[in-house]
Amino acid sequence: MKVIPVNYALSFEPNFANFTFTANEILDVKIPISTSVIRLDAAELKIKSCDVVSGGQKFRAKTKLDEKKESLEIRIPRKVRGNAKIAIEFSGILNDRLVGFYRSQYKDKFGNVKYLATTQFEAADARRAFPCVDEPAAKATFEITLITENRHAAISNMNLISKKQAGSRTIHRFAKTPIMSTYLLYLGVGEFEFLTSKQGKVQYRIVTTKGNSSKGKFALDLCKKLVTSYENYFGIKYPLPKLDLIAVPDFASGAMENWGAITFRETILLYDAKTSSTQTKQYIAEVVSHELAHQWFGNLVTMEWWNDLWLNESFATFMATKFVDKFYPEWKLWDQFLEDTMNTAMSLDALHSSHPIDVKVNAPSEIREIFDAISYDKGGCVLRMLEGFVTESKFRQGLRVYLKKFSYKNAKGNDLWDEIGRASRMPVKSMVNSWIGQVGFPLVEAQKQRSSLSLTQKRFVLEQKGGQKGVWQIPVSIRDNDRTVTKLITKKKQAIQVKSDTLVLNSGRHGFYRVKYSDDLLYELKSLILEKSLSHVDRWAIQNDLFALCISGDGTAKSYLEFADAYENEDDYITISNVAGNLYSLYQKTINEPFSYEIKNIAHEFFKKIFLRVGWDAKKGEPHTHALLRSQIIGSLGKLGDEEITAEANERFEKYLRNPNSLNPDLQGTVFSIVAWNGNKQTYKKLLTLYRKVRTQEEKLRFLGALCNFKDKALILQTLNFSQTREVRSQNMHLPVMQTAANQYGKKLLWPWLKKNWVRLRVKVGTGSPLLNRMVSSISLVADDSMEREIRAFFRKNPTPGTERTLEQTLERIRISSAFLRRIRQEYS
Ligand code: BES
Ligand code: ZN
Repeated sequence: MKVIPVNYALSFEPNFANFTFTANEILDVKIPISTSVIRLDAAELKIKSCDVVSGGQKFRAKTKLDEKKESLEIRIPRKVRGNAKIAIEFSGILNDRLVGFYRSQYKDKFGNVKYLATTQFEAADARRAFPCVDEPAAKATFEITLITENRHAAISNMNLISKKQAGSRTIHRFAKTPIMSTYLLYLGVGEFEFLTSKQGKVQYRIVTTKGNSSKGKFALDLCKKLVTSYENYFGIKYPLPKLDLIAVPDFASGAMENWGAITFRETILLYDAKTSSTQTKQYIAEVVSHELAHQWFGNLVTMEWWNDLWLNESFATFMATKFVDKFYPEWKLWDQFLEDTMNTAMSLDALHSSHPIDVKVNAPSEIREIFDAISYDKGGCVLRMLEGFVTESKFRQGLRVYLKKFSYKNAKGNDLWDEIGRASRMPVKSMVNSWIGQVGFPLVEAQKQRSSLSLTQKRFVLEQKGGQKGVWQIPVSIRDNDRTVTKLITKKKQAIQVKSDTLVLNSGRHGFYRVKYSDDLLYELKSLILEKSLSHVDRWAIQNDLFALCISGDGTAKSYLEFADAYENEDDYITISNVAGNLYSLYQKTINEPFSYEIKNIAHEFFKKIFLRVGWDAKKGEPHTHALLRSQIIGSLGKLGDEEITAEANERFEKYLRNPNSLNPDLQGTVFSIVAWNGNKQTYKKLLTLYRKVRTQEEKLRFLGALCNFKDKALILQTLNFSQTREVRSQNMHLPVMQTAANQYGKKLLWPWLKKNWVRLRVKVGTGSPLLNRMVSSISLVADDSMEREIRAFFRKNPTPGTERTLEQTLERIRISSAFLRRIRQEYS
């Protein structure tokens, strides 16, 4: 029988000498039905004693922990019901697998090895720290005590209410939390350094290891502004008295929204103007914004069960961009959203092996697997489309009611659709359900006859096999000459009256669908693009869809390349970046083909033209996005073997060796990789020495990346093996695998290396780690469809729970690439 928790009084004492912790728990519960057996979630814990107090009587309980079911059975001699207290003494492990209560290792500035203890409980790992009802709907209050060595500081969700020294130990007690879910609880112990600030009634702190807190200034300042902005938007004050942003040296994902104690990878919180790139700065802002959105949406109002996880994550994804954009409009984050979020989502959702946003999940391993581009990115796009459909103000109005109504409670997706539907008086539920209940998204084919535009929808897939099911409710925005009209399309085939011949569908790209224009409509658009009389988003979208059609076989590579001519004078960031990315990707896909040089020349010419505009050095007052474009274009030119770029990169590297400040952080990664691309054993040594020498994780990752960019196979192999040593944190060990997969000289050796090392990798990061999925995905870049059976057989022999769906997606991508290659060979034969 599961019980209903009311309050947890928890005291933990971590022991860094043997990486264990001892703990004490008094759990107040309600027992709804008379029982003598109580079950709690628990794993990897040793129970020392357990007593149950009920009806004024105290019973000594017998306990049994089933590690497989992660369940603790508590048996008492008599049946009890109603209010009870369960008192448990137990111990556990400060593990190194980055889940539950775990340890993180780092070196201080004198090179001494140090440890800190921290927690990661989402989705279902609070049970590794204490017996509990580890489900989002089992909300309770928490009273936390942390007992530490005197030199250690302690952090939890709430503010410290007392700190007492008792001999060699210090006892830290924290205020009682509001009612909340277990996955949001936080414990941290270590020799932290703080950067603090107060705003309104809230105490803000950046928490880092010693010597690093000043790098938290950017995040701290932005955090305060964002909180005010979110408070105004939601109409609800941030509910806790304090908010910590904590940089953790070892961290499995990117960041985690623990209520009042948000944790981050160091590279996603710490900004140093001397060494950090523009990309890093942007990413810090987005992630801080994302985790702050969760403080309301997720923490204050929590999903009933994990099937609505997508709503949590997609909402935070959408809000993250919306709110950073308010402070940094010049970053053009909504444009970047199209590239990063929408393209990522569409690329996954165009696979037969994708899944609907709304899926049933039960076991913890299933929960972990749905933290993917469908939940985050497609979900984020659907919310953006919904906001566009009902208008910004109605969206917000419904959202505010929802948040008030369900504060300190749990809710389902439908509760939100109901409120937005009520506010807007529009058919929100049926519209949204057509996007979240079925897999995939539509391709809308457009054809014009006289003044009638005929629209047909079918599922867009990259692998052609059989008829596709599915009808979506699509808010279609059509730019008809100078007017934009929006119509909700609900049928497979529908006609709309239009005025002009120059029609852009999905204008503004709010809709999550692709468009295929008839030849005559496309012809009209090409001239408008050349004249730049279409908006930059529409210019971006037209070729973006055309490129997807070329990969799926709905169009040809030659027709894409021909159309790309229209972009020769393009000046918009995402448009240039996407055309460049597509050209580069065509070149990569055909690199071993006799006609490769034809594509290479087109790409080279395009890149060179852009390069002549952006140059090596930032100009005063140039657009923010130039920094991003510059490193992409120079990087691509380097890979194409452009001599001028290569020579300059080498020269700048030599200067960097003499004076590291001479090289702009935005160019560092690119320059190091070009140097490696043209380098030898000596170069390798230099880069490896630098990897060891630089201080921040961000800088280290630049060198680790460069070490994967040699042409010499022996050197690439050396990096793969290096990535398994203690010198590379386990949180980063997938990066060399992914970068080797992207290196044309590394492709052949990656699969044999992965096979040889798979068991070791799996053990190192632990079953269910998302890093395993990243490594499985990378196989799609190194295999062709003749290897499908072998790959399948390997994973059948080496089952890796939690990667099954990713494997299917990877194999599908492999088949898609091979089919594409066969088609393009025909085109060029
Ligand atoms: N809630 C997640 C963190 C998380 C992810 C916990 C997977 C457990 C399993 C957090 O809010 C998040 O989304 N983090 C992202 C960063 C983000 C801005 C995309 C991450 O870690 O990748
Ligand atoms: Zn999130």
